[in-house]
Amino acid sequence: MADTTGKLDDKVVLITGAARGQGAAEARQAAEHGAIVAVCDIRDELGEAVAAEVDGSYYHLDVTSAGQWREVVAAVVETHGKIDGLVNNAGIYLGDTVLDANEDNFRRVVEVNQHGVYLGMTSVAPTMIEQGAGSIVNISSIAGMRGYGAIAYAASKWAVRGMTQSAAAMLGPHNVRVNSIHPGAIETDMLFDLGEAAAERLVRSVPMGRSAKSEEVGAAVMFLLSDEASYMTGSELVVDGGLITR
Ligand SMILES: NC(=O)c1ccc[n+]([C@@H]2O[C@H](COP(=O)([O-])OP(=O)(O)OC[C@H]3O[C@@H](n4cnc5c(N)ncnc54)[C@H](O)[C@@H]3O)[C@@H](O)[C@H]2O)c1
Repeated sequence: MADTTGKLDDKVVLITGAARGQGAAEARQAAEHGAIVAVCDIRDELGEAVAAEVDGSYYHLDVTSAGQWREVVAAVVETHGKIDGLVNNAGIYLGDTVLDANEDNFRRVVEVNQHGVYLGMTSVAPTMIEQGAGSIVNISSIAGMRGYGAIAYAASKWAVRGMTQSAAAMLGPHNVRVNSIHPGAIETDMLFDLGEAAAERLVRSVPMGRSAKSEEVGAAVMFLLSDEASYMTGSELVVDGGLITR
């Protein structure tokens, strides 16, 4: 059982892509720390099950839809009166490189991973500004820290890093913090979908010699959502067992 400090007591936290993988783990961890969790995803059945487990609410939210963002943010504020935290976690991975590029795939990845984060930040910012407080955590990747074969994925994750810095600069005066997290090899469907050989190759290159559980990324997310990170904005937390040091 994780430590449950109550460090998110009564905070309202919206997490995208929370039906499975890291998002679902973060929903559970946030609830354990006392948060009221809005579980958002497009996989409705899985998302509703996670919401029931954490005693939260489920919202169908395709992060690429500005209209759905408007509706979900309005519904959460109507129900709970505020939004303290947003975790822009939803993401997809397509492996096309510059050598086997596919323009439709490029657009799709950018649409979800980059435009989705942009819509998330712009949708909650007015509420957080009005509150005079808030924490936005954007999930990038080690693919946003260095060159990476999957070109659309890398482009989108570098963009998340850049947008995080831009938003942190603009929202700092309003006491709204914006930070990015850069996971390495994390044991979710996204990693398993690479195929056994590619996943093993990736894990072999990790100095700590292993992949990570979703909760190990979640711990960094909980920290950034909490008041323990009260003076941190525009920071980039790498959670990769040392992968980018090589
Ligand atoms: N697993 C890894 O090794 C790894 C490494 C670095 C970064 N990441 C990033 O971590 C985040 C979480 O990924 P994960 O590993 O849990 O993968 P995952 O595939 O298990 O989960 C991704 C979730 O996002 C949801 N999603 C996809 N498209 C969506 C959309 N348009 N609108 C709303 N939800 C959508 C999916 O339904 C799913 O529940 C992603 O941003 C991913 O890029 C993962």
